[in-house]
Amino acid sequence: MKVRCTNLNVSYPDGAAHVEALRNLSFECGDGEFLSILGPSGCGKTTLLRVLAGLVIADKGRIERFSPPTNGNGRILLIFQEDSLFPWMTVIKNAAFGLEMQAVPKSLRETQAGELLRRFGVAGRENSYPHQLSLGMKQRVAVIRCFLSKPGLMLMDEPFGSLDAQMRSTLQQELLALWDQNRNSVIFVTHDVEEALLLSDRILVLSAQPGTVVGEVHVPLPRPRSAETSLTEEFLQLKRRIVHLLRQQQAPDHVA
Ligand SMILES: Nc1ncnc2c1ncn2[C@@H]1O[C@H](COP(=O)(O)OP(=O)(O)O)[C@@H](O)[C@H]1O
Ligand SMILES: [Mg+2]
Repeated sequence: MKVRCTNLNVSYPDGAAHVEALRNLSFECGDGEFLSILGPSGCGKTTLLRVLAGLVIADKGRIERFSPPTNGNGRILLIFQEDSLFPWMTVIKNAAFGLEMQAVPKSLRETQAGELLRRFGVAGRENSYPHQLSLGMKQRVAVIRCFLSKPGLMLMDEPFGSLDAQMRSTLQQELLALWDQNRNSVIFVTHDVEEALLLSDRILVLSAQPGTVVGEVHVPLPRPRSAETSLTEEFLQLKRRIVHLLRQQQAPDHVA
């Protein structure tokens, strides 16, 4: 699914006043593109995903979605930083939930979900509940559920933000492998410049609040990418450019 946002303005009520979260934000995400969003804390990244998911209404501006007739569908799914799963459902039911919504028969959907759970190291936990899993496992189940639903657009809000470095690296590789099979559009919010570079086709940098796009970096690194990719000179050059852009976005009292 291709998405185009034009001059989005979003504010939240705050007593008699309002908090301006996004101002004149415009960008496009191509069909099948992996687009990452980087920006200082509080600049409106989560707000942007909520607007795209239809959970928050923009004050002004336009969002257009274009689903290609061949591989496209209009489904948009959002994965939160934590707790995207239904606490009252077992792991297998959570993983297969999107398929259940699409009326896929129980045996087929549980076979498909079970295969992915095994592939991603969650075998044997099918009948556990989310609170019995580690955060890393919960995020795997959330990612599996999302991919099984085959959305046209996946919105991910710092999904690996609270994991340790090794777990994050494993899940990044798993995410890339799944995305490579499906090639749905992804808009991925992260704090982590290396994560954005490893995953994305293109990266947008937002200004401090109210957020607007202040930089765009194409990532022409060949795929498949691995941990080795982050040691190449090309990677480091891109990283320097992005870090420089981000430094310029800090509020004055954050500048050393
Ligand atoms: N529900 C809300 N009510 C009032 N203000 C909010 C609400 N959600 C977010 N904000 C404010 O909007 C701004 C952007 O928030 P957010 O989108 O969460 O930023 P980010 O995800 O980049 O950290 C922040 O100043 C935040 O305090
Ligand atoms: Mg956020």
